[in-house]
Amino acid sequence: MTSLVDGYLSHITSACAADLSGAVADYIPELAQVDPEGYGLSLCVHDGHIYSRGDSSVEFTIQSISKPLTYALALSRLGYVQVDTKIGVEPSGEAFNEISVDDRLRPKNPMINAGAILTASMLLPPVRDVAPQTVDEIFDELVAFYSACAGRQLSLDPAVYGSEAATGARNRAIAYMLDSFGVIDTDPEAALDLYYRQCSLRVTTDDLAVIGCTIANGGVNPRTGRQVLNQEVAQRVLSVMTTCGMYDGAGDWVSSVGLPAKSGVGGGILAILPGQLGIGVYSPRLDRHGNSVRGIDTCRHLSTDLGLHMF
Ligand code: DON
Repeated sequence: MTSLVDGYLSHITSACAADLSGAVADYIPELAQVDPEGYGLSLCVHDGHIYSRGDSSVEFTIQSISKPLTYALALSRLGYVQVDTKIGVEPSGEAFNEISVDDRLRPKNPMINAGAILTASMLLPPVRDVAPQTVDEIFDELVAFYSACAGRQLSLDPAVYGSEAATGARNRAIAYMLDSFGVIDTDPEAALDLYYRQCSLRVTTDDLAVIGCTIANGGVNPRTGRQVLNQEVAQRVLSVMTTCGMYDGAGDWVSSVGLPAKSGVGGGILAILPGQLGIGVYSPRLDRHGNSVRGIDTCRHLSTDLGLHMF
């Protein structure tokens, strides 16, 4: 069985490797330094076994794939009512860095930057001057949660973090626009700092596959056996990933691949078959939506060949 799956994964990664289209993200200078040829694929199945190919142990920054995890943490800590009062669950149909808000001034969903920065802000105390050590403490809790989902200790990429913070004019504009709407209850700079840090955590495709399988499993990490988030939160996260995870490419993605997913400008994609499987793919050349070109192609192949489409 194992060699059959390994043979199949070799076959699809060879087929997808030929596509050299797209471009590495360069709006954060440090991201432009990555090897554009990197390509890894991992699948984590229900019993915790990981099948992987290529650069599956190469670390890259999680970027926006952090958004569903921080959303899960906020839902677990604060509950649905408090989170839903501030952040919607509707697809925005716009780019990830647009200030898409609804008629109640809520960011349309937690997967776009506006929603993700607001989600991070909700983990912080509601004061205008948050001490740096408080951000450190909340970040430590966030890293502990992500690490519990991945089943290993994750760490920050300081160079990417510095680069994000130094070039984050757009995100700063988003945070201050939300602040001007009166929806941020904390210090916007602290919220931005927490958001940049979460985006700068290093993961591998093996990590993404385990994180995906943990969410697929109703919050139980299949390798450690630990319940790291509750089933209801896992279900909400999967729903929002399905409709909003691939931004303005979400409709195409759901039609052709049919799996809840989240992409990041670091080149990662996390895709999940509820109840069954977590998939992590890495290839840093991106399409115009900011999604990995070979990552999407790989997931399309997996979905078609293995009949993973949910509908
Ligand atoms: O907010 C940013 O610019 C990044 N740190 C994360 C963006 C991202 O990954 C968008 N996803 N495709």
